[in-house]
Amino acid sequence: MKFEDMINTIQLGDCYELIKDIPDNSIDLIIIDPPYEFSTLSGQGIRSIRNVFDEIEEQKLNVGIDNKLFNELKRVMKEFNIYIWCNKTMIPKLIKYFVFENNCLMDIISWHKTNAMPLCGGTYMPDTEFCLYFKKNRKLNTNYDTAKTHYELPINIDDKKKYRHPTIKPLNIIKNFIINSSNENDIILDCFCGSGTTCIAAKELNRRFIGMEINGKYYKIAVDRLNGILANGQTTIFTDFDKVG
Ligand SMILES: C[S@@+](CC[C@H](N)C(=O)[O-])C[C@H]1O[C@@H](n2cnc3c(N)ncnc32)[C@H](O)[C@@H]1O
Repeated sequence: MKFEDMINTIQLGDCYELIKDIPDNSIDLIIIDPPYEFSTLSGQGIRSIRNVFDEIEEQKLNVGIDNKLFNELKRVMKEFNIYIWCNKTMIPKLIKYFVFENNCLMDIISWHKTNAMPLCGGTYMPDTEFCLYFKKNRKLNTNYDTAKTHYELPINIDDKKKYRHPTIKPLNIIKNFIINSSNENDIILDCFCGSGTTCIAAKELNRRFIGMEINGKYYKIAVDRLNGILANGQTTIFTDFDKVG
């Protein structure tokens, strides 16, 4: 597919293949939220948690990211400018590639979930998600509201209900990343776009975007979301958006 035709759309497919159609040095900012690496066995006995974990397993949302994508992300970026959501297990391999092998500067942003799942049998609770930011040669557009590196927020249950994605991220955190690390009309890539949170944030902030999603159900949710339609078919306030597909 031609690069121009991907802009302001969500592509249905495997990002490891789709990214090959993106030219070198063409993307201003990448924000990705790949599947996290973790075992879903620990929630076995608790029914409500088991249901969430069953969906996560079924949709392969716990398989992590393959290192071979890193070189492709590097190839398409004009300069290193990338946010990667992750859990603690994934942090060492991200730091190895971006900091040790590619000399990026790094920030660690954390989201402490104040209503996290009560899983604490012999371990620390999985109550914090991380987003690692790697950059080179870049000054941020931060202001006092957007510069913070720690968010204390409950799990966004309303968004999960509205858009029926089990790992949907808070829109406002992603908007802050975009304000800090891009300018109007820049092109933002999210290769694991899920319910389309990054694409919505980009659209609302007058940036261009390319989303990619492998799962047909989540792809439809994301496209509908951009077109102002909730997962239950109701219309939202975003009815003035251009139709995307
Ligand atoms: C953690 S979720 C992203 C959630 C998203 N940030 C949101 O707010 O809705 C990861 C998404 O990546 C998708 N995915 C997994 N492997 C993929 C691949 N190879 N190519 C494209 N999408 C993929 C999954 O189906 C899932 O929807």
